[in-house]
This record gives sequence, structure tokens and C-alpha cells, in this order.
Amino acid sequence: MTSVTLRVVETPAELRQGLSGAGRVGLVPTMGYLHEGHAALIRRARAECDAVVVSVFVNPRQFGANEDLGRYPRDLERDLHVAGEAGADLLFHPDVETMYPPGYASTVSVGGVSEPLEGTSRPGHFDGVATVVLKLFNLVQPHQAYFGEKDWQQLAVVRRMVRDLNVPVEIVGVPTVREASGLALSSRNAYLTPEQRGRAVILSRALRAVQEAAAAGGRDTASLRQAGLNVLTQDPEVDLDYLTVVDGDMHERGRVENDPMTRVLVAARMFGVRLIDNLPLWPEGDPA
Ligand code: PAF
Repeated sequence: MTSVTLRVVETPAELRQGLSGAGRVGLVPTMGYLHEGHAALIRRARAECDAVVVSVFVNPRQFGANEDLGRYPRDLERDLHVAGEAGADLLFHPDVETMYPPGYASTVSVGGVSEPLEGTSRPGHFDGVATVVLKLFNLVQPHQAYFGEKDWQQLAVVRRMVRDLNVPVEIVGVPTVREASGLALSSRNAYLTPEQRGRAVILSRALRAVQEAAAAGGRDTASLRQAGLNVLTQDPEVDLDYLTVVDGDMHERGRVENDPMTRVLVAARMFGVRLIDNLPLWPEGDPA
């Protein structure tokens, strides 16, 4: 049953009024079409904060001209249900004109970690993300903000922005929620049929193959990568964008370091849908 206390607010004034007197505020920024991965973020915020705000805003500034802004899945009723069940207090659902009124002219651009991988494949994407996330931080003024590790590079970009711009918010990364098959939950999975979802599991299988190669002693990035490619090439539907092993600064090195921040990331198009996923190279943390 949806929480009776969940309120929908659409304007900054309603948001401020809804938060007046709130103690520790947690923010879960989303683009809606909430699933169990978002619910895990909301539940974590509920456990750690006095008031929990979920923002639902499909941010046009983080979509490229040929991307899926027009067909991005939207279902506010479902979002209300998921957010209420998981324990949110406020659902902030602004329209585009509220976030970007006529004359709007500012962009937040984070260098370094935003440049490779998604930054190369989706030019301007992280400018759009950083801009809307900073706006949401300024509007909600949360003590803590919760982001899924599924978007690992996005998490690194947000952390960098917060450090660089002295934004007074603690960023909390929450592990990816997966289907029993291993497929990472994503709102974009809605574009896939059940059969296609079954085939898309190959991405997480490839990541695990890289983990296994590292567990077997592999430290050379090219051979670790090859272990994942051996899996991905089994399905001709995989149109690979990148499969890489990076450090905490998103740099690919010749050999991997014994560092728990080392991560294996994949992006590929399957059945016309761009999917991303990642895992820590060492699931148990730093190898001995
Ligand atoms: O991860 C997302 O859903 C979006 O990129 C975010 C952080 C809500 C910004 O629009």
C-alpha cells in the first residue's frame, strides 16, 4: 500500500514548505519509472534521515539529440506507489519550465572523470547531469543524497562536483540491484522483451568473467578485458561500446592496482537499447 504521508510537490515553494522544520534531509534524485533499485536508495535514505525527498524529473539536458528523451518511460502513479512503499515523504515532480525557465543560461561542467567512456559516447550528458543535480541540491538542500552504483561514472562525477564546488552534501553510493539472472535493474530495461532481457544478462556475465580472471591472478588490463570479450562475442546482438577496467579516477592503466576502487565497466547496445553495467574488480575488496 502506498504511504499515506507521501506528498507530491511541484514547485520550489511547495518543496520548501514541505520541508520546513525537517531535521536531516535525504534526497534520492531520479528520472522516474521507479524500480527496486530506486526503492533500495529510498529505503537507505529512510533509515538514515528524518525526511526523504524523491525527485522525479526526466532531465532533457542530459539527453543527446538522437537519444531516447521522447520515449523515456514515465508513470507517475507507479512512482508514487514505489516511493511511498519505500518510505519517501515528498515526491518532487517539477516540470521542465520550472527547472529551466525562459532565459535559463547556466551549465555545470565537471572535468576529468566525466571525460572518458560515457563522456565520449554521450557528449554533453554529464554537463546535463551535473547541472540538474546541483540545482536539485540547491532546491532541496539535503544533508545526504543517494545514487546507485549502477551509474558508476555518474557517481564519480557527482562526487567530484561536490568536492570541487564545496557543496555541503554527503554523497552515498548504493550497490546495484539485480534481477535473479544478474541483469542490473534499469528503467531502460522496459524497452526490452523478457526474451531480450534474458539475452542482456550477457553483460553482467562478461563483468563476472573479468572478476574471475582477476581472482585467478590476472593484473594485465588487456588480458582481463579479453576475458570479458570472450563472453560478449558469444552473442552477435552485442554492439559493444566499451568494456574496460578503470581506477577511481576513471583512468584505464596497463596493469590494475590492488585498490578496491578498481572497477570493470561495460556499455553496449542490444536490441537498439543502450545498456551499461559495472562491478568492482574484487568483490571482496582489496586482494591480499
Ligand atoms: O541517474 C539518474 O536517474 C539521473 O541521471 C539523475 C541523477 C536523476 C539526474 O537526472
